[in-house]
Amino acid sequence: MAVKVNLTVNVGGIQMKNPVTTASGTFGCGLEYAPFVDLNRLGAVVVKGVTLAPRAGNPVPRLAETPAGVLNSIGLQNPGVEKFIEEVLPGLAGYDLPVIVNIAGETVEEYALLAGRLDRVQAVAGIEVNISCPNVKKGGMQFGSDPAMAAEVTRAVRASTGKPVIVKLSPNVTSIVAVARKVAEAGADALSMINTLLGMAVDIRKRRPLLGNVTGGLSGPAVRPVAVRAVWEVYREVDLPIIGMGGITCAGDAIEFILAGATAVAVGTANFVNPRATVEIAEGIERYLEENGIRDINELVGAAHNE
Ligand code: DOR
Repeated sequence: MAVKVNLTVNVGGIQMKNPVTTASGTFGCGLEYAPFVDLNRLGAVVVKGVTLAPRAGNPVPRLAETPAGVLNSIGLQNPGVEKFIEEVLPGLAGYDLPVIVNIAGETVEEYALLAGRLDRVQAVAGIEVNISCPNVKKGGMQFGSDPAMAAEVTRAVRASTGKPVIVKLSPNVTSIVAVARKVAEAGADALSMINTLLGMAVDIRKRRPLLGNVTGGLSGPAVRPVAVRAVWEVYREVDLPIIGMGGITCAGDAIEFILAGATAVAVGTANFVNPRATVEIAEGIERYLEENGIRDINELVGAAHNE
């Protein structure tokens, strides 16, 4: 009989029953997937980014499929934090899983206000600070590509909440390690990486950019090597747990991230192709441990760095 393996991980104070979570934005608020998967089988859920005021998002079209992955330019469409707390969050209350709320602001003060507001909401297990959205003019990548600004946002959020603070990093930077170091010094409890890779597509029939916003963020299997490299480099240099993401479609992909240094993984684009992807990946990780005689998932974290 197979030994019972331990799949529980702790990400900066958030206890998860397995290392698989949803990537912000791709699972809506979580409930959209309830008809397909038992949400209780997930390690955590990360909800779509919320801002202080409601946002309508960018002009359509906002999604483009390419052979290499999906380009999105949603532009942080969301109902605003108050409506989110009143109408969206209660829907997840019946589930036994930590809810991590992704927040985005146009100014440092907005991030602080959002963190302070969510700090008072019991159903929120942690805050993911989105300093890496490629689809907004103010905030977004501006904060995530400058180490000093990334630190300033992190400090402000840290000062506004006692809940775990996860900072989501951008791949669209000169040095993701430089940003990660500053964010760690500023008091983050964990890091998540990577947000989408800035890209665009041109419609050759219309001879115009395909997306209403012109540029968008690329996700899916094409970005996986970029994401694995980011996790690998940051794991070596920064002593914080990492949620790794970028093109994870199966358990093998997830294990690749864990071996590179991720304590947990997030699944995004794969949910569009297979709405059961998250649960299947969690089950596949468990099988991998059993088949390889590994009793604890934590033994695998960063194991590819071992000499
Ligand atoms: O690719 C992304 N799209 N990353 C984000 O952080 C936000 C999202 C959007 O709403 O545009």
